[in-house]
Amino acid sequence: FGRPWIFIRGVPSMDFLPPEGPLEVAFAGRSNVGKSSLINALVAKKGLARTSNTPGRTQELNYFVPDGYSGQEGDMPPMAIVDMPGYGYAQAPKELVDNWTKLVFDYLRGRSTLKRVYVLIDSRHGIKKNDDEVLDLLDKAAVSYQVVLTKTDKIKEAGVRRLLEETTEKIRKRPAAFPEVLATSSEKAGGIDDLRRAIGVAVGK
Ligand code: GTP
Ligand code: MG
Repeated sequence: FGRPWIFIRGVPSMDFLPPEGPLEVAFAGRSNVGKSSLINALVAKKGLARTSNTPGRTQELNYFVPDGYSGQEGDMPPMAIVDMPGYGYAQAPKELVDNWTKLVFDYLRGRSTLKRVYVLIDSRHGIKKNDDEVLDLLDKAAVSYQVVLTKTDKIKEAGVRRLLEETTEKIRKRPAAFPEVLATSSEKAGGIDDLRRAIGVAVGK
């Protein structure tokens, strides 16, 4: 994460995906869980991924890569980070929501260079029904994923510990889940280094 990161592409549907190249790690989760904020914290660049108080901010698969690579053969970035539209936002027009959900599900199921998915869970809410559906899909597709609690600054430390235990227990029997659950706060920079290390190990850097 030493280099500055840049935005390279917004993908509105599967037809617009870049050719498979660098390993990808994707950030998935319910609307407003803090995906874009966590990516900004990771790469230490406020405003790289656009964030908002209003759910439904991210509407495409947004690709970010470290700057300074031509993208030509032999000069590929080592990895790409993919910020995803959220799922489970009932207030947006149904057609839009259906589109995002289809895009998210199709991408998660069918991308061979997708190395790991970080499934973000709001510390105040824990794993919800639609999170379970996404975890089921990833287990079925054998796509490796790790669960990350977000916004831990919003609850007490004892609450975080309890939720970590509960969540670890809930994913224990899931075949594609990485056993360790991470706790993060983009606001207070908590757990960000752990997540950076986890990603480094996942992509073999
Ligand atoms: P969509 O793109 O709409 O699916 O949302 P998202 O998951 O990308 O969430 P985003 O990063 O836009 O953050 C949503 C809201 O939560 C924003 O108002 C953020 O400021 C806030 N937020 C994100 N992370 C944290 C955190 O760690 N702590 C606190 N207190 N607020 C956070
Ligand atoms: Mg977003």
